[in-house]
Formats: sequence, C-alpha cells, structure tokens
Amino acid sequence: MLRFLTAGESHGKALVVIVEGLPAGLPVAAEAISDELARRRLGFGRGPRMRFERDVVTLVGGVRHGRTLGSPVAIEIANTEWPKWEEEMSPEPGRTAKALTAPRPGHADLAGMQKYGFDDARDVLERASARETAARVAAGALAKAFLGQLGMAVISHVVAIGGIEAPSGAPGEVAGDEPRATPVPSATSGSAVTNGRRRALGPEDLGMIDASQVRCADPDSEVAMVDEIKAAAKVGDSLGGVVEILAFGVPVGLGSHVHWDRRLDGLLAQALMSIQAVKAVEIGEGWANAARRGSEAHDAIRWDAGAHAYRRASARAGAIEGGISTGETIVARAAMKPLATLNRPVIETVDTKTKETTVSFKERTDVTAVPALGVVGESMVALVVASEALRKFGGDSLAECIRNRDAFLAHLDEAPSSSSMVVQPEARATRGM
Ligand SMILES: Cc1cc2nc3c(=O)[nH]c(=O)nc-3n(C[C@H](O)[C@H](O)[C@H](O)COP(=O)(O)O)c2cc1C
Repeated sequence: MLRFLTAGESHGKALVVIVEGLPAGLPVAAEAISDELARRRLGFGRGPRMRFERDVVTLVGGVRHGRTLGSPVAIEIANTEWPKWEEEMSPEPGRTAKALTAPRPGHADLAGMQKYGFDDARDVLERASARETAARVAAGALAKAFLGQLGMAVISHVVAIGGIEAPSGAPGEVAGDEPRATPVPSATSGSAVTNGRRRALGPEDLGMIDASQVRCADPDSEVAMVDEIKAAAKVGDSLGGVVEILAFGVPVGLGSHVHWDRRLDGLLAQALMSIQAVKAVEIGEGWANAARRGSEAHDAIRWDAGAHAYRRASARAGAIEGGISTGETIVARAAMKPLATLNRPVIETVDTKTKETTVSFKERTDVTAVPALGVVGESMVALVVASEALRKFGGDSLAECIRNRDAFLAHLDEAPSSSSMVVQPEARATRGM
C-alpha cells in the first residue's frame, strides 16, 4: 500500500511530501516530477501566480542513483517567492500587522478561524489553499512512474467549463456535434476526433490535450470555453467545471467488495472529493444511469476468444463492479465549484473584528482552475490505483511486484474454477503429500 503526507503553507518556504510504500528499484527523476508540476500550472484563466511560481524540486530521501530504495521518498518543492513572504510567514514568534478579518465565503477562512481560534484568516487560508496540490502532484508523479512500469497510464481532460460542455465520447460522425450549454456531467468517456470521426481517448492523446488552452480534447469546445473564461474575467467573476480522468491498463482485481473502505470506487471518490473545490464525483455514467432502466444501465459481459479475456460491451460502470476493477478503462469525473475568491469581490461577508457587513478581501486568484484540476485529479487517481496495485501484488522490489502481477494474470483464465485446483488436506493425505 502507498501512503503520502504533505506539509507546508501556500506562501511558506517550501512544500514537503513523503511517499511511503514504493517498491525498491523504481526509476525516479526529479525532472519528471518537475514536468508534472509544470502541467499543474497549465490552462487559460489561471492567475498571475502561475507565471511567477517556479517549482524547484529536490529529492531529499528515498532515491539513490535514480532508483527508489524501498524507503520513504521525501520531496521538497521550494517556494521561489519566499523572500517576499519571509517576514509575513516567519515561523519566529511575532504578530502580523496585516491580519485578514473579512473571511471569504466559499473558503475555509471563517470556519477555520472559529475552529482553531485564529483572528487572522491567513492562519487558515495558507494551508487550505490549493497550492498544497503541488505536493500531491509530486507524489502522483511517483505513483505514475510505478504504474507506467506495470503498463498503466492515467490521463485527464476537461469536459465542461462554466456553461460549456464538450460533446460526450460516443464514437461516430462529428457532424452535428455542438458544444452543449448544460454543464451536467453526462455519461461516456471522453473522445478525440481523427479523420472526421469521434473515437475514444487513449493515453497517447495526453500531449494533444495538454496543448489545448483549456486541456479539452474537443477543439470547438475549447474555443467556446476560452470565450466563456474571457467573459467571466471581464466582469471579475470565476468559473467551475468538470474534468474526466481515465486510467488505462488497470488489471482486473484492484479494490474489493469485502469491506466498505476497500471498494475501489469509494477510494477514488474520496481521493477526488478531497481536492480543494471539488463538490461532486462520478464513476462511469453514474448520474445518467440513475435515470435509466436496469436493462439499459449495465455492461454486458462477453468472452473475447482472441484475447482470451472477458470484456465489457460498454463502459457505463466506469470499469468498477462491486468495488473491484474489471480490467477495462476506469472512468471518473470530478466537478469543481466556481472559485470563491473573485477579482471583483462582491460576495457579502462580515468583518470579524467590527462585525460590520463588508465584502471579502481579494487574494491573487484564477478565473478558473478546471484545467489544473484535471492534473491534480490524475495524481489522486494514480495514487489510489498504485496503492491498490501494491496491496494486490505486493513485493519489496519492482521486479517482485511485476512477477506477482504476471503470476496473477497468467492464472486469470482459470477463474472462476481455479479454487477447485487447490489441493485439499484430505486429498494431500490420500496422495501421500
Ligand atoms: C488547482 C486548483 C487551483 C485553485 N485556485 C484557486 C484560486 O485561484 N482562487 C480560489 O478562490 N480558489 C482556488 N481553488 C479552490 C480553493 O482552494 C477552494 O475553493 C477552497 O479550498 C475552498 O473549497 P473547499 O470548500 O472545497 O475546501 C483552487 C483549487 C484547485 C484544485
């Protein structure tokens, strides 16, 4: 199993993340982590901080000569803006002269001040800020490196920003597809267009998605989304949206039906919901399925003689049944609320010092962070899938883990009758074993 813990404040000296449980022998490079962190800064509609920030990554422990040692991996992400914040965020005793007392609705500010007994919202917002997701993305880069060694890949793309929704992924002719004006996260996995035909997305599409200004696979929707962001920016407002995360190559058997906290769908939902500003998570066609009849809501099972494998005829369950991965592409969606800090603050609040009505203070903010949410979502999904792969296949070294995986897959064909092949004690006795 994989565990990780982050520490650090948004404008503190550095973020730190410790990842525990990776097998020994996994190739790891600081550059690959930096590349993932650069992806987190992508997207039209991000604030100026994304331009100022440089993520300087240092591998502090757990890696020697480019490979993991099986010990905890510690990563530091330095804050290059620290000199500007050194006094305000100093760990030395003292008090700020700039206490923030107009808590922003939609943020942890007021509830956090009340809970922890603070009179300065900065004591809360510095940790509640989504800057923390940089540490998650660094941990996710390690999880992705591990998954890559096992033939798995996790990608994401934006399916809705504000009122603009990209067409769903049903394969077919593109003609007639129009970006829809409802952000309801309906159905099927994402799609790309090749030679005028819509096709399901694959891991190879990540470069194309990242090249989009809003990380959307559909060029027409991209244009409409950029226009929507410009319109919101003009009036100092913000936008939410929906991202879809796809995990390819995940073998059957991750997660379990035997306990509530071992279900893969439950673990993914918790991981995605834990991301700042995510307020809904969908696995497969969860929302659309609620309106369907049972005869139309499930995925038929077929035997593929060529591949010698069971396949699902559709992807409504998002490749998880009974909390267990089915071997198909996992599909999860996360919906983000519009960011609560506005460039033209209008939301009513109360000054906690005077109790007078005011509007919330302004902190540097994005118009939308939905494109970045996809990258953070990938990281959280990769961490969950990697953790469950380690639970299933175990092993202290990468080679041992791969051997265990191969042994499991080699015997899959025998299911569901494999249990009858285990020699029972009585049989052993009669065979003189
Ligand atoms: C990648 C990312 C970037 C974010 N950037 C901002 C931002 O610039 N301004 C803002 O108000 N909220 C931003 N947020 C959201 C806040 O962190 C979030 O709204 C806040 O923590 C309160 O949400 P909660 O109730 O889900 O915790 C961002 C979230 C993510 C995932």
